[in-house]
Amino acid sequence: MAQGLFITFEGGEGVGKSTQIARLAEVLRAAGHRVVETREPGGSPGAEAVRHVLLSGAAEPFGPRMEALLFGAARADHLDQLIRPALARGEVVLCDRFMDSSRVYQGVTGWLDPRFMRVVENAAVAGTRPDLTLILDLDPAEGLRRAAERRGEGAAADRFEKETLDIHRRRREAFLAIARAEPDRCRVVDAARGVDEVAEAVSDIVMVVLGDRLDALLEQAA
Ligand code: TYD
Repeated sequence: MAQGLFITFEGGEGVGKSTQIARLAEVLRAAGHRVVETREPGGSPGAEAVRHVLLSGAAEPFGPRMEALLFGAARADHLDQLIRPALARGEVVLCDRFMDSSRVYQGVTGWLDPRFMRVVENAAVAGTRPDLTLILDLDPAEGLRRAAERRGEGAAADRFEKETLDIHRRRREAFLAIARAEPDRCRVVDAARGVDEVAEAVSDIVMVVLGDRLDALLEQAA
């Protein structure tokens, strides 16, 4: 039985990942695929418990190494409990953030040693890497505005959203650098356009890059 497909969505704050995941899931389900939508940090009971610790800022005083290890622990559990079993059943997994968020948020803007980050990444993913990563690219000033609008102006930004615009700009550049370094796995999508246009661009890329493997999954399920 062929493995399913693992697609991750990455990018800064407010780039529209969750909307685009929902849209792609709709397209794939209409074509007959079984689709799992999930997110990080979280996606399994253990990882959701760690999510709270990370996003509330409770781990922040202990430093970026502690946070990087916690994101890694959450990722390992998510893979064990949800992602690998779904892939083994031949399903398509759409994940909102994954290892590239750790590389960017903890590695680049947490100033952690790249060797340490590689060790944590390898331990967490244990060989399960995305078949395709869509990097939604948007000017962070616009992304933060959208994120504030979405949560309501009065509500507080979370641990990572609250950082300075300069840090968000470094993150944007770091995601683009990953795309350049791993062109087989990654595609950059201009997220400044309307939702429909971005959704069309996303499904076009998925069909071009994974069309044959998606067809094979449908044949297998039939
Ligand atoms: P979330 O509320 O899920 O926001 P978003 O819609 O931006 O994905 O918050 C997740 C936050 O956690 C986000 O600010 C990015 C951060 N993060 C990391 O710092 N490292 C990681 O490995 C992951 C998965 C997320």
